[in-house]
Amino acid sequence: MPAKVALITGAARGIGYGIATCLARQGTRIVIADMNGTSAKKSAAQLAQDTGVKTLGLACDVTSRTQVAALVKKTIKQFGQIDILVNNAGICPFVDIMAMSEDVFKKTLDVNLTGAFHCTQLVAKEMIKRGKGGRIIFITSLAVNVSSAAQGDYAASKAGLHMLMKSFAIALGPKGITCNGVAPGMILTDMTKFHWEKPEPAAFVKQRVPVGRIGTPEDIGNAVTLLCSDAAAYINGVGLIVDGGHQAVCA
Ligand SMILES: NC(=O)c1ccc[n+]([C@@H]2O[C@H](COP(=O)([O-])OP(=O)(O)OC[C@H]3O[C@@H](n4cnc5c(N)ncnc54)[C@H](O)[C@@H]3O)[C@@H](O)[C@H]2O)c1
Repeated sequence: MPAKVALITGAARGIGYGIATCLARQGTRIVIADMNGTSAKKSAAQLAQDTGVKTLGLACDVTSRTQVAALVKKTIKQFGQIDILVNNAGICPFVDIMAMSEDVFKKTLDVNLTGAFHCTQLVAKEMIKRGKGGRIIFITSLAVNVSSAAQGDYAASKAGLHMLMKSFAIALGPKGITCNGVAPGMILTDMTKFHWEKPEPAAFVKQRVPVGRIGTPEDIGNAVTLLCSDAAAYINGVGLIVDGGHQAVCA
């Protein structure tokens, strides 16, 4: 049986690359798709060197349905199948909701929500055609349930993504394709390091997160791997919080 193929969006760095790394360690062939095509190719080459799996790095802006269609076509041409899709590409501009322009608001929804719609619909059509089921993971956020004044666009997009995941889970379950969300807590990446590398927020993490540390991209990659394993065949339409217990703390 040929090795599985995973297509991960926004995977040139950060959480996406952590997911790619964990899935590659299982022998899964990896497509790293990212708006930054140069980084996607570089990261794919690095991953192949580190893990020995076949990889492909492709440029794709998930907000463009045309580019997503081309991405799916190139993946099928190269690897013949897609078993796993991870909708990971996302942005968080951190602008106060009262000062936010319409353009910023729309862009966040376009990348975080509409991008996942394009990718899921177009990849699921290929999975259905092949008839061997599949796994689709949506990287959401704790912002599905909580927000801040600087995350109005982001929280709206992620709450929407959580419900989009459920809708696809209902539509695709009968075809053997499961859809689930993974909601990362505080993970150290380029998106967040400006904040968490400062002494005070770092101390806050230690005090507020029961496991006593900030999360790593591979903490999320391990959770995604779990949901993509055979053992997770009956898990469909749920969101898994991966935050070291952060949201369990009430004061
Ligand atoms: N870092 C955290 O603490 C955290 C917490 C919760 C959720 N998340 C979510 O995890 C995902 C990854 O976040 P990260 O911290 O690794 O961010 P990151 O900024 O380090 O990486 C995001 C990647 O997505 C790519 N990207 C951006 N827009 C794109 C587009 N339109 N099309 C294709 N690729 C695009 C970027 O080029 C980049 O490589 C995001 O969906 C984010 O919302 C992150």
